[in-house]
Amino acid sequence: MKKQNIKITPKSNLKGEITAPGDKSISHRSVIIGSIAKGITEINGFLHGEDCIATISAFRKMGVDIQETGDGKIIVHGVGLDGLKEPDDILDMGNSGTSMRLISGILAGQPFYFVLTGDSSLRSRPMKRVADPLRLMGAKIYARNGDLAPLTILGGNLKAIDYKTPVASAQIKSSILLAGLYADGETFVTETAESRDHTERMLRSFGAEVTSIGLTHRVQGRPELVGHKINVPGDISSAAYFIVAGLLCPNSEIIIKNVGINPTRTGIIDALKQMGGNIVIENIREKDEPVADLIVRSSQLKGAKFSGEIIVRMIDEIPILVLAATQADGETMIRDAGELRVKESDRITTTVAEFRKIGAELDGLDDGFIITGKSKIKGGECESYGDHRLAMSLAIAGLISESGTDIDNIECVNTSFPEFWEMLNSL
Ligand code: S3P
Repeated sequence: MKKQNIKITPKSNLKGEITAPGDKSISHRSVIIGSIAKGITEINGFLHGEDCIATISAFRKMGVDIQETGDGKIIVHGVGLDGLKEPDDILDMGNSGTSMRLISGILAGQPFYFVLTGDSSLRSRPMKRVADPLRLMGAKIYARNGDLAPLTILGGNLKAIDYKTPVASAQIKSSILLAGLYADGETFVTETAESRDHTERMLRSFGAEVTSIGLTHRVQGRPELVGHKINVPGDISSAAYFIVAGLLCPNSEIIIKNVGINPTRTGIIDALKQMGGNIVIENIREKDEPVADLIVRSSQLKGAKFSGEIIVRMIDEIPILVLAATQADGETMIRDAGELRVKESDRITTTVAEFRKIGAELDGLDDGFIITGKSKIKGGECESYGDHRLAMSLAIAGLISESGTDIDNIECVNTSFPEFWEMLNSL
């Protein structure tokens, strides 16, 4: 496929109202759990990004009837816990780590043969972290070099386990909890820090018995899951680009409607507020997930230090936080973020390389960054490395640059935020 590129020109006075696109994590989970529930699950606000479409395609290949209505709704005709079929082809998860790792948990519980693959980025990301606990539960899983996709899974006959995850990761936790649905008895997962809890919340909303005490989560096997109506909140990870744009571009005021503010995801708001960002949270409402509207106004930020539990609560927002830090008064330090090295790109290396190219002063650490504040972003040519979050961060960098950014390889943005460019132009 031909690589696409875009030129982003400097802007100030960003004004307007936007609605955050559907949350990627919650969209995946709504299709995964809806597929193995009984009856119909109607999903409003689903994210029609390539990653979530990969999840839909996987369940269609396993015999689940999933319809997209004209108004963007998704209707999943759940087949029940034991209703999936063996696919007659490999399952291609594209760029989506969430699809591969969460769906592996479901496949571990099926008495069938599966082969899972993805694009070159996904095929370079670690899978042993989910394969190990799923093997302990009884699934046979084979991986390239012991760690990488393509994966082969021969599932069925799972037993419950009590597992401590080596890294704080919602994908590992979720994979084990989803496999736990197929085990007799109670499966426990203990994490090292609290990762996003969308799986626990959604399983409960479908009728599963899931409890959490501190960092330990428990699921009771063989529940009766019942399909229902889901409203997917807007994705705070997508909203983050516009939050930072509103803070950094002079004379701006942006209203972002319908943003999910689950406390396991709001690290970015806490961090930017700690740096002095003017972000007002309004109109908070809650059903299964809390949602609010945000008002963001131009602010002079100051440097800060971030490490520990907040990192997990903003892991996907760190590239855009790094951009915010380049404009702060004083140095910013980010530590305990070594997981960035195994995201869609090695985000420590790629963020440092590309932000330096356009004039920012920053250094990479093993597990984070040191960012010198008040950098002049000159702009120029830069590259996404096929990483959507880096591409969108470089676009926001273009807005505050002297000459604009020329970003190569931007089609990756379609994985999580297909409306990004249009929304950026609307302000
Ligand atoms: C996700 C969990 C996080 C995050 C990813 C989505 C999820 O990954 O980075 O974008 O939906 O569970 P890890 O669990 O690997 O930290």
